[in-house]
Amino acid sequence: MEIIVADTADHLDALAADRVADYIRAHPGRLLCLAAGQTPLGMMRVLLDRHRRGEIDLGAMRYAGLDDWLGLGYADAGSCAQFLRDNFYHPAGMPADRFRLFDGLTEAPEAECREMEAWIAAHGGLGLSVLGIGLNGHVGFNEPEHLVRHGPSRGCLVVDLDETTRRVSQKYFAKPLPVARGLTIGFAELAASDRILLLAGGAAKADIARRAFAENATPAVPASLLRTHPRFTVLLDPAAAAGWHGPSNTV
Ligand code: GLP
Repeated sequence: MEIIVADTADHLDALAADRVADYIRAHPGRLLCLAAGQTPLGMMRVLLDRHRRGEIDLGAMRYAGLDDWLGLGYADAGSCAQFLRDNFYHPAGMPADRFRLFDGLTEAPEAECREMEAWIAAHGGLGLSVLGIGLNGHVGFNEPEHLVRHGPSRGCLVVDLDETTRRVSQKYFAKPLPVARGLTIGFAELAASDRILLLAGGAAKADIARRAFAENATPAVPASLLRTHPRFTVLLDPAAAAGWHGPSNTV
């Protein structure tokens, strides 16, 4: 595991964009898995700027959405589909056949999972996965309770969201909106990515980042299980590293 502490939040965005750009140049055509959420937004803006300047070609890649709330679709503010389309795919001018997002409005969630699995398989498996971390340590919607009970899931799955995720979900919605289940790429599928970049920024993430990357690995903190991945990088801003991590290192 490589842990990098950026100098500032903006520096984290730039470093994350550097890593993604390097991967695009080295592995054109491979599949990028992108998390939605507040954490990768700055990185996406940097990538879009570099794309517009012709420094990278985002269109060289294929993309898979990491997760979404079951019951919400593109038209719903707060859905991952809307976030990713509005903040990344549309501004990048990405043709629709280059990316696949979970359809949270599906009436057949299991079939939706099989379709995402087929998309991933058809493009050679996940190349680079760019992840965030939830306050309970989840990656995607791979919830602690699910990991503890069932272990890492291959493929994609429908998950009952735990209490922390339901509570935190409200930060994405303009008005209170009950969400109970999510669609996600499974933990084992993510762990099979060629390379994984996990971003964490802000003081609110410091405690879970410490538990995930400085204490014993446990399914109760799903992100901690990524530490055995051979090409796993954690990028933190100073606030997320505060109180538990010194300078950047590789362990
Ligand atoms: C959310 C999403 C994850 C995301 C994480 C952190 O619930 N399911 O994909 O990476 O939690 O979100 P944020 O970056 O907004 O803190």
